[in-house]
Amino acid sequence: MTTTHDIVRLHVNGDLREVGVPTHYTLLETLRYILGLTGSKQGCDKGDCGACTVVVDGRPTLSCITPVWEAVGTEVITVEGLASADGPHPLQDEFDLNGAAQCGFCTPGILCSASALLERTRAPSREEIKDALAGNLCRCTGYTKIYDAVEAAARRLSADDASADAATEGGASTGGASPVETDREPGGV
Ligand code: FES
Ligand code: FES
Repeated sequence: MTTTHDIVRLHVNGDLREVGVPTHYTLLETLRYILGLTGSKQGCDKGDCGACTVVVDGRPTLSCITPVWEAVGTEVITVEGLASADGPHPLQDEFDLNGAAQCGFCTPGILCSASALLERTRAPSREEIKDALAGNLCRCTGYTKIYDAVEAAARRLSADDASADAATEGGASTGGASPVETDREPGGV
């Protein structure tokens, strides 16, 4: 039996990827087996566990039950796309610092659900965090450390936002930062 392929263009983690994909593939299969992004986990493969969660246009999405063609024209963020050039996402740091991952199988999906929450609100209540992660099953941690880590990351992001706002206001009131004076020659070390 031959498998029919489609060419699909996907925006994943800020990159445009054009790939040939078996027509029956889900977004999860495409991410893992075509694009090599294996951070998203294939757990139950039927929409029950949340291990495959990615962020699609800002919304947590179960990639195991999402046909790949539904992701065309969207912005997909996987756990591999959460870190920036500055380092790990605050959620990743706080999961580490709070001991919020044990076997780690659920962690990529939880990080994606939590990152979507923190993009919506920087000050979620514990109940909002529980609601946001209700579709992500963890058999190891008991959840308390996970919720603690999300709250800690929210505080860090709020503080970062406040610093950025203060820097912007400071720059606006002084007409911008003064150039740093230096007696180095251009190109010198
Ligand atoms: S693998 Fe998608 S919900 Fe379990
Ligand atoms: S850390 Fe093992 S399933 Fe969550």
